[in-house]
Amino acid sequence: MTMVSIALLPGDGIGGEVMAATVPVLDTLIQRHRLPLDYRILPWPATEWHRQHGSMMPDDALDQLLGYDALLLGALGDPGPLEQADRYRLPDSISLAPLLALRKSLNLWACERPARYHPGVPCYLSDPRAKELDMLVIRENSEGEYAGQGGRLRAGTEDEVATQLEVFTYAATERLIRHAFERARQRARERRDEKRVRAFTGPEGETRESQVCLITKRNAQAFWGGLYDRVFQQVAKEYADVATHHELVDAAAMKFVQCPWRFDVVVASNLHGDILTDLAAVLAGGLGVAPSANINPADLSVPALFEPTHGSAPDIAGRNLADPRATLFSLALLLQWLGERLGKRLGQRSDATADIKNSNEKSRLFYSAAHQLHETLITDLAAGHPVSGTDAV
Ligand code: IPM
Ligand code: MN
Repeated sequence: MTMVSIALLPGDGIGGEVMAATVPVLDTLIQRHRLPLDYRILPWPATEWHRQHGSMMPDDALDQLLGYDALLLGALGDPGPLEQADRYRLPDSISLAPLLALRKSLNLWACERPARYHPGVPCYLSDPRAKELDMLVIRENSEGEYAGQGGRLRAGTEDEVATQLEVFTYAATERLIRHAFERARQRARERRDEKRVRAFTGPEGETRESQVCLITKRNAQAFWGGLYDRVFQQVAKEYADVATHHELVDAAAMKFVQCPWRFDVVVASNLHGDILTDLAAVLAGGLGVAPSANINPADLSVPALFEPTHGSAPDIAGRNLADPRATLFSLALLLQWLGERLGKRLGQRSDATADIKNSNEKSRLFYSAAHQLHETLITDLAAGHPVSGTDAV
């Protein structure tokens, strides 16, 4: 069987610690499930690499990464710990740049961050229905508020003017919203298989098994709000089986806390998604258990990038306090994605029967490894092993 190969990128701060805890788990999964998988641990992107080489990663980093099937990142940014005053510090604009650059240059335009309550994690809300939390936030990952356009005029003076341009295109909006509806359908199917159907209300009060909630700030930002609205309505017509909903981002923040059980798939712009996913993470127990997947749903040949939602947490770095489970849950998403990818490839080639058989078998192996890891993590949480906090970056 041809090998699937992934790169592990520990990065900075607690990134190294959470990755060190992940490697033995990966070894066990490879052995136990006979995964045709090999991995390589890369010393970049990292602040330490910058200290030695003057840049966060080598010039041909992108080409090298394109040679892998998937990537798992620990964290980037300030490496901590705080008491080390002489540590090599870099501004965020340098140390975090590879993360945004990888998402952009690999064209990983959707960031999926599932948030589901599991017994054993801290629940900060008193309403018992908060434990029904099971949402998937899909964040736009290629443009919007992160377009990187703008500048500072008369910087450093009292007349300084900073501009930060937000860019929203039809193409990026359409693919994102369509993907959200696809995921909603898929989640409904999976729930049906697991006999835990949920009910959402359609436009005429009828029941739907899944929902997509669109987030905008259209009352104040009418241009992109108008575009998102139009595309949402247009795409929704093709998914009559999925209930639709809209929330302004500020109201959504309130309702995530007030009635998180009402959400299923949530689709948001880059910045809104960034903020709401930290909130969703804490509702699901904390950043210590919140995974994320940066993917290109339209092109599975591009290596997807998986990472915990947390940052490098310089306040706890080096103290062995970081919870590796966000990275382990991200690894489960990675294995599942490999399964999905191998399974989908199947449909594209009808000629070589041996290839199809191989792909099918491989796909099954990755799915079952993902499933086992996920179940083990949930059992571990239920056993009461505490979730440690990590600061957001
Ligand atoms: C995240 C992080 C990043 C982001 C930072 C580190 C640039 O907060 O992955 O959520 O805003 O995308
Ligand atoms: Mn974030």
